[in-house]
Amino acid sequence: MRKIAVFISGEGSNAAKMLRNFSERDGIEVALVYSSKPNKNLKALCEQLGVVFHYSLWNETEKINLLDLCIKLSIDWVVLAGFLKLIPESFLAHFPNKIINIHPALLPKFGGKGMYGMHVHIAVIQAEEVESGITIHYVNGAYDEGQIIRQFRVSISDNETSETLSTKVRVLEHKYFSDTVAELVISAKN
Ligand code: GAR
Repeated sequence: MRKIAVFISGEGSNAAKMLRNFSERDGIEVALVYSSKPNKNLKALCEQLGVVFHYSLWNETEKINLLDLCIKLSIDWVVLAGFLKLIPESFLAHFPNKIINIHPALLPKFGGKGMYGMHVHIAVIQAEEVESGITIHYVNGAYDEGQIIRQFRVSISDNETSETLSTKVRVLEHKYFSDTVAELVISAKN
């Protein structure tokens, strides 16, 4: 059984999809959801599914406590699902090539510090791109620069707004993210 920790900073809709998807799969489970903000809905869903939900600040002491909790729960992989903090070296060393992020655009464009959520979609529309999408990638020590695993694309129409693009991209995330993670993690050698 591969044990996953999902880290979030926002609403957690991708984390909720992953919790439900993995609860019906063999060979993979979400064993921990860490949120850097209080999140009543995700906490309730975790309780319903018997998954540990952990909220704490993202400071130096709590980062150490979180890594300790991951080790205690025998976490194998970490998935960032709308997690907006930089992952420290201690986590990268403990989970080499085993931390995955989702980004709501086609990297390497529209990534980096400050590029998250609606900021990304606004930048894509302003740049008059003809397509956008999602990028699922490994995490390294820099924002959005780790090796790309898979991308899924969506075309941008002439009258597209950042809001309509956000909805289209969200549909792609909910459709592909958890299955892509499950396939990758289950097929990995360790
Ligand atoms: C998602 O759109 C995800 O791609 C994005 O945050 C949103 C979280 O939504 N991540 C980033 O922008 C990372 N740079 P959710 O909390 O509803 O899953």
